[in-house]
Amino acid sequence: MEMIAALVFKLVDGASCEDFKEAGWEGQFVQHNHGLFWTDANGIPWSAKYIACLGDPITDLTEDMAAEQKARTTYEHLIACTDDECVKDTLRFLWEREVVHFQRFGEMLNTVQEWMANSKHCWMGHRTEK
Ligand SMILES: [Fe+2]
Repeated sequence: MEMIAALVFKLVDGASCEDFKEAGWEGQFVQHNHGLFWTDANGIPWSAKYIACLGDPITDLTEDMAAEQKARTTYEHLIACTDDECVKDTLRFLWEREVVHFQRFGEMLNTVQEWMANSKHCWMGHRTEK
């Protein structure tokens, strides 16, 4: 989030109202000027509902893995939408991180599943019959 915020901030730094209008971002300028306001590509404000946590390690790790893949795909779409090589480099760096994050969550999912299969305790610490 910090890297995307810094990228957007640099892209609009010094932009005038006319620049925002030309980019189709007039609403952003009117409501937030150069300030960053977290929305998706359609202007829907960021919400904590994007963070899914059900308290089950298998479910939550699977959700994390899906989130990493969605981020990777979004970066691919963003890369396709820009011809700015500096922006592309930043997005490629972030893309690589999502791939690694997906792999690490996958490794943790395997570890948790192995532990659950071999443990006499369920993940919450309760003793189970095995
Ligand atoms: Fe990630």
